[in-house]
Amino acid sequence: MLPRALLLIGALCVAGPGPGPGPGLGLGLGPGLRVRVRMADGQVAEESLEADTDSDSISIEYKKADGTLITLLADFRQEVKIIRSLILGEMERGQSQLQGLCFITRLHRNELIPSESMAKLRQKNARAVRMAEEQRAPQHLYMDVAVNYSKALPLSMHIHNICAEARDAIYTREADAKHWMEKGLDGSMFEILPQASEVTDVERCRLSADRWKPCVCHYSLCIEWYPCLLKYCKTRDDVGKISSYKCGIKSCHRCSQYDYYVPQKQLCLWDEEP
Ligand SMILES: *[C@@H]1O[C@H](CO)[C@@H](O)[C@H](O)[C@H]1NC(C)=O
Repeated sequence: MLPRALLLIGALCVAGPGPGPGPGLGLGLGPGLRVRVRMADGQVAEESLEADTDSDSISIEYKKADGTLITLLADFRQEVKIIRSLILGEMERGQSQLQGLCFITRLHRNELIPSESMAKLRQKNARAVRMAEEQRAPQHLYMDVAVNYSKALPLSMHIHNICAEARDAIYTREADAKHWMEKGLDGSMFEILPQASEVTDVERCRLSADRWKPCVCHYSLCIEWYPCLLKYCKTRDDVGKISSYKCGIKSCHRCSQYDYYVPQKQLCLWDEEP
């Protein structure tokens, strides 16, 4: 039988009081866990999952077959979710080598397991290729607000690090910005972008022929596997009293589609008709 302190994820588990913060990977968070995950295209990617209980945050990162690096950072303290994509540019098309995008939305309760449970996550079979147990409904988000990188610290201390390669492409939604402002955040970091309704002649980048004209860019990505819920098991003690304890996680899969205004189609060259 497993020690009560371990939480199993299928054959992954959440350990008891885990090791302290270790020599983290890229984000300076905990020691991290590497999980092999089956992607939609059938390929296997290695996801890196980290938790930092001090700052109450989680990060999940993986690289796509085309080299794009996808990172999700959940900042529970600030109720902020940052999804960053680092896209390798195509030099021959005049793009800089790396293009970063940061999409920041409100983090809802129960979207992900808490950071202290994540810090205790372990797997027995590190070679197992995992697939999410639950497919969450895809999200389609219109990102109508730009976030000023140099003013974004009060929103989440992680933006400075995660969005460094996306300084000019940090987006959120007006409704989310309003939520954070109601909690006392200074709104001067937010700038409303030209809305589709106001600028009716702004067309979709994929239909636009002019590289220098503004358009509405589309980008989609998936987080293939993430721990979204805690599972509880019941146990009966010597006198027959039943209690429950955390004994595992449920994994989820979710895709998100983002639409946002760009001043030039040049900034959205992946969004072309096939
Ligand atoms: C962001 O804020 C800084 C500091 O106030 C300002 O100098 C800069 O012009 C702003 N950037 C944009 C794109 O508005």
